[in-house]
Amino acid sequence: MVTLIQAALFVAPLFASKGACQRPTSTTTTIIPWTGTYTTSTTFTPCTGPATVFIETPIGTTTCPPAPTPTRPAPCETYPDCAASGLNIDYYANPVGGFGTGNTPPSFYITEGLSPLDSSLTNVTFFPQDMPPANPSGWTRDTNGGIIVNANNFALVYYGFYRAPTTGVFTICSSSDNENDVFFGRGNAFSCDNGKPSPDAKPLQVSRGGSYVNPINCTDVYLVGGRYYPVRNVMGNFGGPSAFNFTIWEPEVPFEDRKNDFTGNVYPLSCGWLSNARNKNATKA
Ligand SMILES: *[C@@H]1O[C@H](CO)[C@@H](O)[C@H](O)[C@H]1NC(C)=O
Ligand SMILES: *[C@@H]1O[C@H](CO)[C@@H](O)[C@H](O)[C@H]1NC(C)=O
Ligand SMILES: *[C@@H]1O[C@H](CO)[C@@H](O)[C@H](O)[C@H]1NC(C)=O
Ligand SMILES: *[C@@H]1O[C@H](CO)[C@@H](O)[C@H](O)[C@H]1NC(C)=O
Repeated sequence: MVTLIQAALFVAPLFASKGACQRPTSTTTTIIPWTGTYTTSTTFTPCTGPATVFIETPIGTTTCPPAPTPTRPAPCETYPDCAASGLNIDYYANPVGGFGTGNTPPSFYITEGLSPLDSSLTNVTFFPQDMPPANPSGWTRDTNGGIIVNANNFALVYYGFYRAPTTGVFTICSSSDNENDVFFGRGNAFSCDNGKPSPDAKPLQVSRGGSYVNPINCTDVYLVGGRYYPVRNVMGNFGGPSAFNFTIWEPEVPFEDRKNDFTGNVYPLSCGWLSNARNKNATKA
């Protein structure tokens, strides 16, 4: 009875005003995910036929914590027209059980006043995992810049300037067997005044590995295109096999295309327009 009356009421306007939109006699409901963070609904009413109520539900219910703001390391000034001849690389003795165990700080070569056993330049910051021969006595390996080291135990320091090719968030990643400490930016990698690293500098990032498992550690930094950023890697192998990979992942490229060959974008320390050195030349003039 009630239904009949309602039906009559629905139909009544049809006769009252011909050609006006007919009110929907029923509704269907559709649930669709959307990018909002709450549930809402929208009713779609066509001229004829059933109305459709769209229930919009949030895609996924997990809320991610806010991403940390990348640090903004400061650049140094460099001499104009200085050639991108590569990073400096210095080879130091590292005793068995020394740097790389976690018990020796990456400042050991500074505080102990060590002199490099060999020095060169390199555009590449990578050498693959090796495996020891049957008799590891006298075992050597090639690293970068043509430097051959005692493969059993050694330390390498890579330093100079990285010219940011563009502005944005860059991701610095490294992996190593046994340890690599990354220092980046003015004062952290070294001083823009005298080019010297501080033994008290805290690394931006540390990667540790061994036993053929070398986990990658990545850190975001915001860099400005065309500026020259001081960078320093202190890498050490305290005994047995070794490996090293230091990469910079530039903005707007896939992770797989991150680089460990910086040809054309890395400069030696001598390119630095260090204020002490400049003052010396100024006094001479
Ligand atoms: C690094 O790359 C630059 C630019 O191609 C080149 O001039 C320089 O000789 C390279 N340095 C080394 C050590 O290979
Ligand atoms: C990455 O480096 C940071 C900074 O030194 C350190 O706190 C963190 O433990 C490292 N992460 C891994 C997975 O080693
Ligand atoms: C080293 O880094 C490059 C990216 O430059 C990457 O393609 C490669 O897989 C890495 N190699 C190792 C052994 O981690
Ligand atoms: C000092 O001046 C000499 C010659 O004028 C130049 O070759 C050298 O690169 C300068 N060095 C520094 C650190 O300013």
